[in-house]
Amino acid sequence: MQIRIEPLADESPVVLPEPLGFGRVPTRRILTCRYEAGRGWADAEIGPRQHFVLDPAAQIFHCGQGIFEGTKAYLRPDGRINLFRPDANAARFNRSAERMAMPNFPEADFVTAIETLVALEHAWTPRTDAASLYIRPVMIAAEPTLEVRSSREYIFYVVLTPTGPFFAGGFEPVAVRVEEHHVRAAPGGTGEAKTIGNYAASLYATEAARVAGYQQVLWLDAVERRFVEEAGAMNVAFVYGGKEIVTPALSGSILPGITRDSLLRLAPDLGYAVREARLDIDEVIADIESGRITEVFCMGTAAVVAPIGRIGHHGRDVIVADGRSGPVATRLHRTLTDIQYGRAPDPYGWIRVLDTVA
Ligand SMILES: Cc1ncc(COP(=O)(O)O)c(C=O)c1O
Repeated sequence: MQIRIEPLADESPVVLPEPLGFGRVPTRRILTCRYEAGRGWADAEIGPRQHFVLDPAAQIFHCGQGIFEGTKAYLRPDGRINLFRPDANAARFNRSAERMAMPNFPEADFVTAIETLVALEHAWTPRTDAASLYIRPVMIAAEPTLEVRSSREYIFYVVLTPTGPFFAGGFEPVAVRVEEHHVRAAPGGTGEAKTIGNYAASLYATEAARVAGYQQVLWLDAVERRFVEEAGAMNVAFVYGGKEIVTPALSGSILPGITRDSLLRLAPDLGYAVREARLDIDEVIADIESGRITEVFCMGTAAVVAPIGRIGHHGRDVIVADGRSGPVATRLHRTLTDIQYGRAPDPYGWIRVLDTVA
């Protein structure tokens, strides 16, 4: 892929605001690439970040044909930048594209797009501990028509945002509420795809949980409202007896997380057994209360690992162990982030080091 690089008007030194938070601070450049049926992808360009001009009938606005990804660039101790499994994001992006009847974006070009943009914007990679440069590749349907059908025009773009540490106040457990009325995704639906509508559909229950004092929703399956699926926009895992990590098996309505996949690969090397299973929420709650489950945690790019200390279920709160972060979550978080930040060797071939010095 040839990427045209346009000059920036503003070349002044980058000063990152404090606190960074998540997703609020834009960098100066955007990568865009356009698709038309019959012609394919063309016009890859990196230039100053600016607004899109889209017709009000563009299909993204009323058909919701849109997909995205999320990954991060990490500053290494030697000043270079690490990317973590961008090829896995490329592969998932294309699985999402296929499910949403959108065109494939070549995986090698996806990785090149990210590498080129991050290299140009390297000065935006935060130097603060546990902070990172978040990368958001997106594809939207751009054809102006009110017909309900797959679009013939698309825009692929990548934007970046420096993000602060997920746990600003330390590795603090979060509280989740089991959602009994609404579902995130159903069998045969789009839950496995990273498509924008899944997030819109999750907001009502998430806001209600927040008002009730929980940070996230614990989603159950759509058919029996019984089996645990995900925690908010993260995968979830349960630790039995401090030794065995059990996570819901990918059911078709669970997003296959790259963090989940990495931890399932890494945990046995740390001496933990791993298992993918159907997990009945009533059994999970009983196992937490009896002490068989010693830890619960979520897994995702944003937090990597986030311990869950409290679960709201049928109107009452169940505290996991002593409600504090446990040793397994703490160790998994440290081991994976050490690889991501280049503080430890990467025996799995997950890291791509950019030559740019930030
Ligand atoms: C619904 C959902 N589940 C799980 C995840 C975790 O996936 P990953 O580890 O690839 O960030 C995400 C984040 O992308 C998500 O949006």
